[in-house]
Amino acid sequence: MNGSSAPMAGVLGWPVRHSLSPRLHGHWLKRYDLPGSYEHLPVPPELFEGYVRALATNGYAGANVTLPHKEAALALCDEVDPAARAIGAVNTLIFRDGRIEGQNSDAFGFLESLRQDLPAWKPSTGPAVVLGAGGAARAIVFALKSAGVSEIRVVNRSAARAERLVADFGSSVTARPWTAAGLVDTCLLVNATSLGMAGQPPLELDLQSLPSTAAVADIVYQPLRTELLSRASAAGHATMDGLGMLLHQARPGFEAWFSHRPEVDAALRAAVLEGLT
Ligand SMILES: NC(=O)c1ccc[n+]([C@@H]2O[C@H](COP(=O)([O-])OP(=O)(O)OC[C@H]3O[C@@H](n4cnc5c(N)ncnc54)[C@H](OP(=O)(O)O)[C@@H]3O)[C@@H](O)[C@H]2O)c1
Repeated sequence: MNGSSAPMAGVLGWPVRHSLSPRLHGHWLKRYDLPGSYEHLPVPPELFEGYVRALATNGYAGANVTLPHKEAALALCDEVDPAARAIGAVNTLIFRDGRIEGQNSDAFGFLESLRQDLPAWKPSTGPAVVLGAGGAARAIVFALKSAGVSEIRVVNRSAARAERLVADFGSSVTARPWTAAGLVDTCLLVNATSLGMAGQPPLELDLQSLPSTAAVADIVYQPLRTELLSRASAAGHATMDGLGMLLHQARPGFEAWFSHRPEVDAALRAAVLEGLT
């Protein structure tokens, strides 16, 4: 804690040293010449709730939450936004008037990234296929559904997890096996699994039946240019990498804590990319 009245925030995780959030928020604080600080806040699961409550009563404006605390954060909030409730996880805490508010900004981040990086894609264009049924996939399904995509197909290794997601999101969302992903009339394909990430197995999906007009997004950002995106790009698809989602999801928290609406631009992208190498 910095002993001044300047707003303080940070990212809660265990481990958390790898988090790029301090670099990202630090860039904005400097760029907008704002008083305030943002730091890594390592805390093990068994101390999480007490630690958050101590931050809230010790002058912190709020915090981001990363693995493994996102569900625990949801449980301790006095109120949560509809996205966090539907996704089942909180990634942004705001301490206001003695209360703890929880938000999930991943869906917002994904939609803003689509708006910036794939401006030609429109929710009404047609069906979307989402690969994955974990936390990130839930955020993406929530985002696409709230944007008005009328049909979302979820393809996941574990069928039971996909079925749980489908049950939570209603009839416009269906589960498909990998072998019948239903790419033939797809307008947007999103990888929300960890496949293709550095150190993980490759993502093996034949793109041949994907219409050439379909856009392909990968939320993996290490590496930034995944093999899926390279193949999609070579086949003429418009593509979007995972960095935009990471940068845009940080905006609501920053605005709430430091009272300034930040922008995602080339300078921020370059600053965060430096931390990825
Ligand atoms: N760009 C961003 O801002 C952003 C934000 C959040 C997450 N991400 C990235 O998104 C990815 C997923 O994150 P998450 O939080 O959703 O993780 P998660 O909850 O652990 O889910 C992992 C997903 O990947 C699938 N998967 C993992 N290994 C697999 C394998 N060998 N074969 C087939 N499927 C496999 C899982 O399938 P099962 O259900 O069958 O296990 C599940 O659908 C990570 O790479 C993460 O870095 C990016």
